[in-house]
Amino acid sequence: MPTLNDFEQLRKDYRLQSLLEKDVKEDPLQQFRKWWQESLDSKIEEPNAMTLATATPEGKPSARIVLLKEISDRGLVFFTNYESHKGSQIRENPFGALVFFWKELERQVRIEGKIEKVSDRESDAYFSTRPLESRIGAWSSPQSQVLPSRAQLDQKVEEYTRKFSSGVIPRPPQWGGYLLVPELVEFWQGRPGRLHDRLQYRFEREGKWKIERLAP
Ligand SMILES: Cc1cc2nc3c(=O)[nH]c(=O)nc-3n(C[C@H](O)[C@H](O)[C@H](O)COP(=O)(O)O)c2cc1C
Repeated sequence: MPTLNDFEQLRKDYRLQSLLEKDVKEDPLQQFRKWWQESLDSKIEEPNAMTLATATPEGKPSARIVLLKEISDRGLVFFTNYESHKGSQIRENPFGALVFFWKELERQVRIEGKIEKVSDRESDAYFSTRPLESRIGAWSSPQSQVLPSRAQLDQKVEEYTRKFSSGVIPRPPQWGGYLLVPELVEFWQGRPGRLHDRLQYRFEREGKWKIERLAP
């Protein structure tokens, strides 16, 4: 049993697979879909949990986990509160970075790009598929604001449950989706001796990506 400072015991060697130039797709979203399918097939729990980094215009970063909800032809979609901490950073500095770590496959994917809101129609459509509790939750929680107590949040939930007891729950205007449009995507496959495979896609022009191998 490792003790508190026994980090050496946590050392793991990666040796499942390799990632070679000849095996990857020309388009990073196609390659992402391929790895995504393999993550689903391998029954990883919550493979759609991704770290999202955003920053203030001065470059002070924040990161947190959000859930990937759609892979579109243009990029990756997640949903959140537009008035949250991340929402205000994105409003002032519309760039972000995503990181997936699929440890069972010894893989990491990093994606950087511009973030834009999805259409109201798309947010409405997704909101309507959410479980009742989550729809009430979106109304009740002023995400990232300081709460005086848990009781106040529970009270809001009760209020909105009563308010919407007799009909459809519309999407709160401050809640919706963002699309991150990739400009840089890196696929990382763990290899023995820390000599990992890293293939980076850099956007050159519409439909054209440059693929380069990076040193591990
Ligand atoms: C597994 C997991 C999934 C999450 N998914 C979301 C999500 O899809 N959207 C979201 O707004 N927050 C999600 N969160 C909560 C965020 O990590 C974060 O606490 C919240 O969005 C507030 O972040 P902010 O204050 O930086 O805006 C998730 C957290 C975890 C651990």
